[in-house]
Parts: sequence; C-alpha cells; structure tokens
Amino acid sequence: MTTAPDTLTIRRPDDWHAHLRDGAMLGRVAGYTARCFARAIVMPNLIPPVTTAQAALDYRARILAALPDGASFEPLMTCYLTDDCDADALARAHGDGIFVAAKLYPAHATTNSEFGVSDLARIRPALERMQRMSMPLLIHGEVTDPAVDIFDREAVFIERVLAPLLADMPGLKVVLEHVTTEDAVEFVAAAGSNVAATITPHHLMINRNALFDGGMRPHMFCLPVAKRERHRLALRAAATSGDQSFFLGTDTAPHAIAAKQAGCGCAGIFNAPTALECYAQVFDEEDALGRLEGFASEFGARFYDLPLNQGSITLAKRAWSVPETIALPPPDEEIVPFGAGETLDWRVEPAEGDSA
Ligand code: NCD
Ligand code: ZN
Repeated sequence: MTTAPDTLTIRRPDDWHAHLRDGAMLGRVAGYTARCFARAIVMPNLIPPVTTAQAALDYRARILAALPDGASFEPLMTCYLTDDCDADALARAHGDGIFVAAKLYPAHATTNSEFGVSDLARIRPALERMQRMSMPLLIHGEVTDPAVDIFDREAVFIERVLAPLLADMPGLKVVLEHVTTEDAVEFVAAAGSNVAATITPHHLMINRNALFDGGMRPHMFCLPVAKRERHRLALRAAATSGDQSFFLGTDTAPHAIAAKQAGCGCAGIFNAPTALECYAQVFDEEDALGRLEGFASEFGARFYDLPLNQGSITLAKRAWSVPETIALPPPDEEIVPFGAGETLDWRVEPAEGDSA
C-alpha cells in the first residue's frame, strides 16, 4: 500500500460475493464489477440455478463474453446446493477447478432460493466431502422459520444451525456471507481460522432506519436486511480491525427498477458502481485506511488459498455524485445504484491506458 496526501494505492482487490446475473442484465453490470475487482466469487442463484459443472462452465463463458473489451477479470464459480446434490460430482468439479466453493441457500431464505436446501441432513455426504477437500461452504445465514422475527433470523441461524454444524464438522471451511449482526461478528471472531465472513459496503453504511427514511425505500432493501445501529458499528469495527476472518464481499445484487419498486419488491442492492469507493469512505471515517488493503485484497485470497493479485488500483479523495440511475437495455430500462444521488468522498482513478 502507498499513500500520497489524497490518494491511496492498494493491491487490486477481489469481490468474494457478487451476483452478476445473466442475459442482458449480465452484459450491463459485469463491467462495474470488473472495473476494480480482479476476481469475484459468482453467486449461482440464476433461474435455473447453477448446480452442475457444465452449467458453471457455460455461465463462466457467458460472463467472459459480457466483459467490456480489455477487461481482465476472473469469475470464480460456485455450486448452488440442493437437497439432491450429487456429492461425487461436486467433489470432482472442485478437484477440476470448476467450482471454487458451494453455496448454501436455506430454501426460501432470499431471491431465487426456492431450490435451496430444506434440511442440512439432506446434504451431509456433500458437506463431508467438502470438509475433507477444504472446499469452502458459503452460507446465506438466515433461518426461514416464519415465527422468527426477520431482524433475528441471522442470530437464530447461528445458534440453531451454524454452531451445531461446526460442532459436528469442526474442520469444515465456512464463509458466513454478508454478516449483519454483532452476534455474527462475535461468532466468527471467536471461531477457528476455518470460519470467515464477508461484509458488504451497504451494511457498513446504513442501519435499518434507511429502509423507512421519510417513506419506504425499496433500494435499501436487501437480505439479510440491515439491522439496528449497534450492529452496524460492530460490523465497522470488525471490517477495520485487521482480523483476517473478515473480508470484502459486496453482495452486489442488481434488480431492474420495476422489480424493486413493486407491491412485493425484490431484495438486493446494486452496489458494484460504488462499492470500493464506499469501503474506502468507511475505512477513512474509521481512521483505518491503512487496513483497507488487507480487507479488500489479501484476507479473502488467503482464506480461499488463491494467489494475491499482482496489479494495483488507485483511489483519489475527490468528491463525486453517484448517478440516480443507470440505463439498462429494454425492457428493464433502469437500475438504481447504491448511494444514488449522494456524494462520495473517494473515487477509483481510471487505470493507466484507460480512456474513461
Ligand atoms: C440477493 C439476490 O438478489 O440475488 N439478494 C439480496 O438481497 N442480497 C440474494 C442474496 O444474496 O441473498
Ligand atoms: Zn448475495
């Protein structure tokens, strides 16, 4: 890392949790992730979900084809676990380098999770193989029990599902994705080095008040939903602590404006156009800019046993306004980025040779 008064240069970062979508949406959003991240763990919750090695290879090819000319970006593919997943095929695809990790969506927990796992007992053979191979299990950590208050679903998941799972399989490599609570921070900090968590920019910047600021704010709605202020502060402390168990995962999750602003609006925040800038702002506010590189560019790669990236990226402290909307090809028309209409302090400098 190097710093001049108003710039910050760090090793090129990775995004350890991204939804790149498919079709026309993929073509529109992939470049926003590739503009600063060298690699991303690509979520498999397409319709139909990515459950086989062939589907992952095909999706990977579509992602590469959707990148802007000259982009250097490596999609890291994940397998969507279902009740009837084939443990042998999963292990083989991991051994072949096709699936970097597998994703556990509790059935009906979030967007496109209806094919998810109904009971962990159903995928026990797969989990045993993953433990033996050190293949990371990426978890959407929320119970789906409708009797549990939505703001408690992550904490209850840790108690009812995650702690027993790790007691049963203490060597399983786990990433608790997009943590939103003090409970999750404490659990991950106390767990062994085989347990880590990703943290999104939006959960570092907003609490649940943002959902109801003067009216309903669908573009602030994601799952797990933002929690109260004390949880946001715990997340900020964890992200900026230098603890290697916490690393960057944006959970960029674009939905067209009409799907968000609806009677039953989709969960998901599209933050790829502003993610690294938001993280820089948070680390700056916490007087921890010197720790951004570890969080963004080192800890995740180490957890996944992947090499660190070679290139670098420079951010400048130069205020800019986030556009209100970003155009999409018809029929979707528009999408709202995180921070729409706000001013951010930091901005990624164009790479050398970039005309933009
Ligand atoms: C994600 C999506 O839209 O695919 N939505 C979200 O609110 N984060 C799914 C997920 O990661 O939960
Ligand atoms: Zn996600």
